[in-house]
Amino acid sequence: MAESVTVSRVGKRFGMGEAALPVLQDVGLEIAAGEFVAVLGPSGCGKSTLLRLMAGLDRPSTGTVRLGEQEVTGIDPRCAVVFQEPRLLPWKTVAANVALGGRRLPNAPSPEALLELVGLTGFGASRPHQLSGGMAQRAALARALIGRPGVLLLDEPFAALDALNRMRMQDLVAGVCRELSPTVVLVTHDVDEALFLADRVVVLGQRPATVTATLPVSLPRPRDRSDPALAALRAELLSHVGFSSPAAAMDVAAVA
Ligand SMILES: Nc1ncnc2c1ncn2[C@@H]1O[C@H](COP(=O)(O)OP(=O)(O)O)[C@@H](O)[C@H]1O
Ligand SMILES: [Mg+2]
Repeated sequence: MAESVTVSRVGKRFGMGEAALPVLQDVGLEIAAGEFVAVLGPSGCGKSTLLRLMAGLDRPSTGTVRLGEQEVTGIDPRCAVVFQEPRLLPWKTVAANVALGGRRLPNAPSPEALLELVGLTGFGASRPHQLSGGMAQRAALARALIGRPGVLLLDEPFAALDALNRMRMQDLVAGVCRELSPTVVLVTHDVDEALFLADRVVVLGQRPATVTATLPVSLPRPRDRSDPALAALRAELLSHVGFSSPAAAMDVAAVA
């Protein structure tokens, strides 16, 4: 079942005293059950830190994160994370890696069923080194989905892939979300990816980061990358991340 995620007045600093590095400051975010939110922000502003707090991999310095009604105080089986690298165990088969993400659920899906869902039918007996980068990320997604997470946290999961594979993965995530409808938080520095996938894009500012803008994306799905409505939203989003002139808008790399 999809869960809501509520981030209330969250601050996070690393280290103590004078040397402390404030990373997040007064971050507030209410994500409805089943909503798809993309979090966009400059490199090093604290996006991964925010996702780790949601996943219970770290604790906020101030404020709270809640999953449904419950405060997050540690790793929660309702949450699953996909990182930028696939993080598969090299000595296990692909199916065994996928099974690792499972919980003891009644009617739990089999690793094979998940591999089929992500387009890796027949690769269950392979080892991770036999997969391409894109295939390994598909396996990581299958591992995240096997426990039927209510909240799926994606930390730049396509950033290491080439442009075509990245688009394939985006299509796959869009399809999987239609089928399983979890709450999704996708961290990305790719403006187009955020607009293609999300119901809402949240922009974080420079460190110490707080939410500087929110842009609803109320376009029907499945979305078409060449939809002019997406281009209009892109211009608006680029102005929120600090690019307003058409010349600067070409320089998307500077957002990263
Ligand atoms: N465990 C940690 N200890 C100390 N500093 C950290 C730790 N994790 C992240 N940081 C620092 O916090 C800042 C934000 O990091 P991160 O959340 O990874 O940024 P982003 O994902 O937006 O690129 C960076 O300056 C990073 O070096
Ligand atoms: Mg990061």
